[in-house]
Amino acid sequence: MTDNLLFTPVTAGALALQHRIVMAPMTRIRADRITLAPTTDNADYYSQRASEGGLIITEAVHISPEGTPIWTIYQNVRDDGGQVPGIWTDTQRDGWREVVSAVHAKKGLIVCQLLHAGRIAQPEIGDHPVVANSDLPLPSVSASAIAMPQGDEDNHYGWDQPNSTPRALATTEMRRICDDYAHAARMAKDAGFDAIELHAAHGYLIDQFLNQSTNQRDDIYGGSLANRCRLLFEVTATLIDVMGAGRVGVRLSPYLNDPETGTPSATYFGAESDDADAIYSHAVRGLNDFDLAYLLLTEPRVGSMASDPESDQGYHHPLALRHYRTLYNGMLMGAGGFTPLTAATAIEQNAYDLIAFGRWFISNPDLPDRIRHGHDLTIYDRATFYSGSSAGYTDYPDRHDRAKADGYRMIAIANVGASLPKSAQTGEKFK
Ligand SMILES: Cc1cc2nc3c(=O)[nH]c(=O)nc-3n(C[C@H](O)[C@H](O)[C@H](O)COP(=O)(O)O)c2cc1C
Repeated sequence: MTDNLLFTPVTAGALALQHRIVMAPMTRIRADRITLAPTTDNADYYSQRASEGGLIITEAVHISPEGTPIWTIYQNVRDDGGQVPGIWTDTQRDGWREVVSAVHAKKGLIVCQLLHAGRIAQPEIGDHPVVANSDLPLPSVSASAIAMPQGDEDNHYGWDQPNSTPRALATTEMRRICDDYAHAARMAKDAGFDAIELHAAHGYLIDQFLNQSTNQRDDIYGGSLANRCRLLFEVTATLIDVMGAGRVGVRLSPYLNDPETGTPSATYFGAESDDADAIYSHAVRGLNDFDLAYLLLTEPRVGSMASDPESDQGYHHPLALRHYRTLYNGMLMGAGGFTPLTAATAIEQNAYDLIAFGRWFISNPDLPDRIRHGHDLTIYDRATFYSGSSAGYTDYPDRHDRAKADGYRMIAIANVGASLPKSAQTGEKFK
């Protein structure tokens, strides 16, 4: 594994990277419950995962109370967890500054993923101490007044609280939405982030504008492909104005496959379109007009809730988004169901320039080092992904710290996805 192309340097916009293994954005619900600011634990967690010239993308960071889900949906979080972080107050910014400093101290780079959750945000945040008695706009809002479908079928988290019906944003409010993004971007810049990423994927606000099931507007933000992409492009332009050229990334998730069958029969929080390929192709082509650091695409094979990486069907499906490579001229990053071997193959085959790993980065703080030297990986514990506790957060061992490995299982790199069909491992089906 030592000479594989994952370890060739690359420049993504203004970001000079020494390798191509990126830490994917992952919500962990461990920020301070009251201030929604990062804590020293959060700084430790990101610092553990920093590598020289390696890129980390933070968990989704909320730009305003209006866009913030309070994840009381999980019983364990209700009982003793932390919260999701924001970046609209000074306290939140100062917490992020500690995180950024810790990553920079290890010569790593860090991008802040900015999120407005749209109709996924819950009105209960109005009672939260960081928001109560402020005159900040509150959830939930969306492109149209359509609630997320209830239940397990369309909402893969299957939470147990009713979904609110959002207020449709007025045409005249779009400037204010851009201003909210600009405010968060200024805070992120002030905290020292190397770049920011616009989370335009996974059924959240921007994606709610892109998709037909969530956008039934008849103004200049609805209907045609150009109109449904308008907010995406306006916010992207706003963020580049603040951060500068090459310091903004965008994430899109063209569609979601059923993890078992590999066919497009699942949705991100009920956001879907009959013309999925047309709308995302329009979005990807349009992003060529912006000086981005990168475009991150979510391969649709994610979504499996399997705990064992050998039986997780998501690792078995081949790349599905190679079509977009031909539409986009800039740096392309892929995420979703990559193994160390399929990631290297994807770079070799020029499917992607960079590969973001999620779950493997949770349980392997020194993931780039382990892949480079072919060391066994620690297997992630799904039960603690969102538990909000320190277990399963900062206690995963690096490869030198075998003592801490007690209780965690290991897997040889060669066995991750070892039972993958050959087509999935090589991507040959898509040559
Ligand atoms: C615990 C967890 C939290 C996640 N939170 C986010 C998030 O905040 N923002 C985002 O864009 N993607 C999020 N994702 C998706 C990941 O960025 C990534 O696409 C996904 O884990 C698939 O990659 P993997 O197969 O390498 O894990 C999350 C994934 C996990 C496992």
